[in-house]
Amino acid sequence: MLGATEPAETVTRATVPPSVEPEGGNAAIITRRDMLAGVGAGLGVAALSALAFARRDSRLGPGYQFGEVGAPVPGSEVPCTAGTLTSSEPEGPFYTPSAPKRRDIRDPGVSVGVLVLTGRVLDTRCRPLARAVLDFWQTDHNGVYDNQGYRYRGHQYTDVDGRFRLVTVLPQAYTAISIFRTPHIHVKVQGADTPLLTTQLYLPDAEETNARDLGYQPSLAIRYTERDNSSRGATFDFVLARG
Ligand SMILES: [Fe+2]
Repeated sequence: MLGATEPAETVTRATVPPSVEPEGGNAAIITRRDMLAGVGAGLGVAALSALAFARRDSRLGPGYQFGEVGAPVPGSEVPCTAGTLTSSEPEGPFYTPSAPKRRDIRDPGVSVGVLVLTGRVLDTRCRPLARAVLDFWQTDHNGVYDNQGYRYRGHQYTDVDGRFRLVTVLPQAYTAISIFRTPHIHVKVQGADTPLLTTQLYLPDAEETNARDLGYQPSLAIRYTERDNSSRGATFDFVLARG
C-alpha cells in the first residue's frame, strides 16, 4: 500500500486563545436555522449556496506556531510555474479550529480507500516555505463530517523543503441542506510571512460529480502519481504570496 505506514506521531491539540476564535465561536457554521430562514425568504438553491459560501474565513490563531519544522518528507519534484497563485475556495460550514497536530488523519485501522497526498508549499518564485502550517479537514468514507470531534481533521507543518504529507481516505460526495458537493478536501495554508489561504482540493477522476458542483476548479485537482487496489498516491503544490 503506497507506503502508508506513518511514523508514530504525537497528537497534540493546538491551543487557540479565545481572542482569536471565530467571531461567535461556531457562529461561522451555517445552521439549519440560517438555511430555513433563507427558504422562508424565498431564496433559491443557488442563492442558498451563495449564502453557505458567503461567511468569512476563520483565521488560524497563534496556537499554530509556524516555528515548528515538520519531519522530512521524501518526494519527487513537481515543476513549479512561477507566479501562479493557488486559488482560494470558500471555507464552508464545517471548519473546526484547533484540530490535532498529525499527518495521518485516518480512523485507526482504516486501510482501504487510502489517499496519501504529498506536495510542497511554495512562494510565487517557487521557493519552498518551511514551517508553513496546513490545516486539513474532510468527510470520512461515508461522506460525513465529524462536527463534534476531530475525525478526519488535523494540522501539520512543512519540512525544511516546504514539503507536507497527508495520509487520509478518499473523501466522498455529500449533500448538506440541499447543496450537493463533489468529493473534496478542505485546507487552510499559511506561511510565516504569507496571508492565509483557504481552499479545497478535488479528485481528478470524479468527473461526473465535479461537473455537478459549481465550486469545482480544475486547477485545484490533485494529481495521482500511484494507485493500487487499496490506495492512491497523489501530489499537489500550494503557491502563496509572501508579505
Ligand atoms: Fe466540504
